[in-house]
Amino acid sequence: MAKLIKIRKAVDADLQEIVRVWKKNIKTINTASDIANLFGYFKKYFFLAVSTASDFEDSVIGFVGGTIRSGHGHISGIAVDKKYRMKGIGKSLLRAVEYEFLANGLEKVTLEVRKSNRDAIRFYEKHGYKQSYIVKRYYADGEDAIVYEKRI
Ligand SMILES: CC(C)(COP(=O)(O)OP(=O)(O)OC[C@H]1O[C@@H](n2cnc3c(N)ncnc32)[C@H](O)[C@@H]1OP(=O)(O)O)[C@@H](O)C(=O)NCCC(=O)NCCS
Repeated sequence: MAKLIKIRKAVDADLQEIVRVWKKNIKTINTASDIANLFGYFKKYFFLAVSTASDFEDSVIGFVGGTIRSGHGHISGIAVDKKYRMKGIGKSLLRAVEYEFLANGLEKVTLEVRKSNRDAIRFYEKHGYKQSYIVKRYYADGEDAIVYEKRI
């Protein structure tokens, strides 16, 4: 049966899959319990991309984890499993969380990205994010972060 990809809100039962996709795809400083805490506080800003062959069979292939930081929307994590990339799924996830931020009165979105993460930088810039400033040695391994922001 042909597989469909759909975007839906995350629910409690999705936490394990979010942690799996997050840790598999993002060189992260977040532990599983950090991710669980973010999810606990900011669930309504977490969306999933699921591949579905029928109504009963869902497999998570991507997610976006939105949070609120300093009164702004913040993208804490976004990832799509490798074999599903470059098909517009990241774009759909980003749109979903930006729409939710806006619906909740949040008009600015911020995020950090590793200086070396060219794919993500290209992705964010394509979607209107502008470089704001650099945080030296933000990541545990000493890499700098670039902070991006966008008015939505
Ligand atoms: C960033 C990410 C979520 C994008 O997801 P995606 O589903 O591939 O994105 P889309 O298909 O919607 O968008 C593709 C666009 O993103 C950029 N992009 C993403 N991957 C790219 C690559 N390998 N090479 C060049 N551009 C890339 C491009 O702008 C591309 O569009 P273009 O070719 O028309 O310029 C995905 O690459 C990913 O999961 N990366 C690993 C996790 C990560 O680094 N997350 C960000 C830090 S939290």
